[in-house]
Amino acid sequence: MSVVRFEHVAKSLPHGFWLRRKDVLRDVSLSIEPGEVYGFLGPNGAGKTTSLKCLLGLLKPDSGSVEILGRPGSDPAARERLGYLPEHPYFYPHLTGRELVDYFGRLFSLPADVRVRRRDELIERVGMSDRADQPIKQYSKGMLQRIGLAQALINDPELVVLDEPMSGLDPVGRREVKDIILDLKAKGTTVFFSSHILADAETLCDRVGLLFDGRIVLESGVDELLEGRVEYWDATCDDVSPDKLPGYQSRATQGGRLYFRIPSAEQLDAWIDAVRGAGGRVVQVSPHRHTLEDYFIGAVRGERSSDEGAELEESA
Ligand SMILES: Nc1ncnc2c1ncn2[C@@H]1O[C@H](COP(=O)(O)OP(=O)(O)OP(=O)(O)O)[C@@H](O)[C@H]1O
Ligand SMILES: [Mg+2]
Repeated sequence: MSVVRFEHVAKSLPHGFWLRRKDVLRDVSLSIEPGEVYGFLGPNGAGKTTSLKCLLGLLKPDSGSVEILGRPGSDPAARERLGYLPEHPYFYPHLTGRELVDYFGRLFSLPADVRVRRRDELIERVGMSDRADQPIKQYSKGMLQRIGLAQALINDPELVVLDEPMSGLDPVGRREVKDIILDLKAKGTTVFFSSHILADAETLCDRVGLLFDGRIVLESGVDELLEGRVEYWDATCDDVSPDKLPGYQSRATQGGRLYFRIPSAEQLDAWIDAVRGAGGRVVQVSPHRHTLEDYFIGAVRGERSSDEGAELEESA
């Protein structure tokens, strides 16, 4: 059974002064299997937060269905097995961080000893031990984010839903949150998180879905997406003069060193033979692979230009 399932979810929300409804989610279908780390990507306003709210039963889809562990997201039995970090956590500002995490432990009716132990372990884990006894209203954005994460994990959930978990964090904080996500993965916890930070998604996720204008426009395993897709090779040689390498146009020269960009592995073999045949020395060869960011930008640009095309057709 999938841990998360969206089937053709659509949702419109009132928009602007006249409260006309805007189609925020047009067709969202995805499923996440046990133990997967799934990155939910997409530009600002794509509908990521709205999708997560539908998943958690905070918004009701107009059509389609959403399930957590085979139950509706609003079902208390599903909620018990779930941890959630909202995009803009609103926590009672007069509570201290420790009191807040404790409060959530009480909501889950954890036995007192388990609650206190987990609370203090999690506060330590998110790097908030020094500040845990200050009121939340004195916290910076990153501190709130850290305490929010501790709160989301207090019930040792099977599924963790994180809306932009890295936002507002400094590089140390980002690394710490990444390590927490990797620990969760190692324990077999399923993680569903939205992010704009593609380099992080690339290193953390098993699969990613790209949401654009309320639709999933690309969904793939990260390995499949990135594996073996070398776009070109950067190749450097020296001890050879350019006229000994006819047919190869160097991009730059520096101190007798020649820099080339070679489009394929076969051409690279031929280039290496040519350099050696001319008595030269291959200094460096490095593949340039597509990154998740290349795919993201390519897919978003492709969608934007097809939208424009559709608009032009409509107005013609
Ligand atoms: N409560 C609301 N009422 C009306 N419109 C809303 C509401 N919440 C979101 N929207 C609209 O829905 C669209 C999607 O918003 P959403 O917050 O889901 O996007 P997102 O992908 O999470 O963006 P971001 O990356 O900026 O967090 C936006 O056009 C937004 O203006
Ligand atoms: Mg959002």
